[in-house]
Amino acid sequence: MNKIKVAILGYGHLGKWHCQKVEANKDVAEFIAIVEKFPAGQDSARANHPQVKVVSDIKEVINEIDAAFVITPTSTHFELVKYLLENNKHVFCEKPLCSNDAEARELAKIAQGKNVVLQVGHSERFHEAWEKLHDKFQKLTPPFTVRINRVAPFKGRATDVDVVQDLAIHDLDLILYLFKQKPTHVSAHGFKIRTPKWDHANIELKLEENSYAFITVGRNSVKEIRELEVISKDGAILVDLFSNKIHYATNSQYSDGQFVKEEPYSKRDHLLLEHQNFYQSVLQSKPAIIGLKDGLNAVHLVDCTLQSLEKNSQVQVTLA
Ligand SMILES: NC(=O)c1ccc[n+]([C@@H]2O[C@H](COP(=O)([O-])OP(=O)(O)OC[C@H]3O[C@@H](n4cnc5c(N)ncnc54)[C@H](O)[C@@H]3O)[C@@H](O)[C@H]2O)c1
Repeated sequence: MNKIKVAILGYGHLGKWHCQKVEANKDVAEFIAIVEKFPAGQDSARANHPQVKVVSDIKEVINEIDAAFVITPTSTHFELVKYLLENNKHVFCEKPLCSNDAEARELAKIAQGKNVVLQVGHSERFHEAWEKLHDKFQKLTPPFTVRINRVAPFKGRATDVDVVQDLAIHDLDLILYLFKQKPTHVSAHGFKIRTPKWDHANIELKLEENSYAFITVGRNSVKEIRELEVISKDGAILVDLFSNKIHYATNSQYSDGQFVKEEPYSKRDHLLLEHQNFYQSVLQSKPAIIGLKDGLNAVHLVDCTLQSLEKNSQVQVTLA
């Protein structure tokens, strides 16, 4: 394969940015089509990408492409990813991979034995902070506590899903990625404030070896906060994902008499990194950087959290 023939599915808020990343990778990707269901989006796609075919249904271009990026509402992911896999296409699917465990199991069955790349868009894994901290977190001596806060004022976006599928999924996936100790149980409670779905959730994950993660997500808060803090007997590390700074407080004093140190890290283009990794996996027949198992486990943790919210009880986790 010389260049990967690519279609973008969904020309909405995020699909527009994905289109730019296809164009930024012209050396490896040939932009064949934008698939957008609704006329307003199609007009805007045509105006911004006059060289690219714009259609309303993936079936119209399925024989012209090698790979597709699924950037449509979450409720459509399952059908679209299923169709693409059945047609042996490489797939990048925005998070979440699908809406629930049952769909995830069916996708896993379809993907089995297929010689295609399936990458999931857990873009929060691409913060430079994790390159600096991943090893340290993996080697943490338990017990430890993780505290994640991801809240923002209401923006009116992604209200087709609840705040767990939209926001907490980032943090549930980060817990799986950053720490060796895996979740065993979930307890959550929350509020439906502005929509008929959960707008705010407090999630307690019991991790192996007596550790815990407490995740707060909300889309009707008074200000925007995105931070992750890890506390153990060795001290505390707080990552401010908004201002791109890591704050360290060890269990002793620094040589200059300070108790807290601050280290900035660079803001990166996560979507661009996702595209570059996807194209490399396809061209070099390498497994996806964030693959099916990651997608399944994140969906499972979302499912467990939603069950806990509905039943107001603790739910046991069974990871793939
Ligand atoms: N990784 C991240 O940080 C991040 C951030 C935002 C959104 N997302 C994910 O991206 C996806 C899209 O979010 P968004 O905010 O762009 O949504 P959006 O509603 O703005 O855009 C979705 C677009 O898909 C189109 N569409 C719907 N069904 C379609 C179909 N069958 N075929 C083709 N087009 C179809 C809609 O008309 C719309 O234009 C969601 O799954 C969301 O969870 C991820």
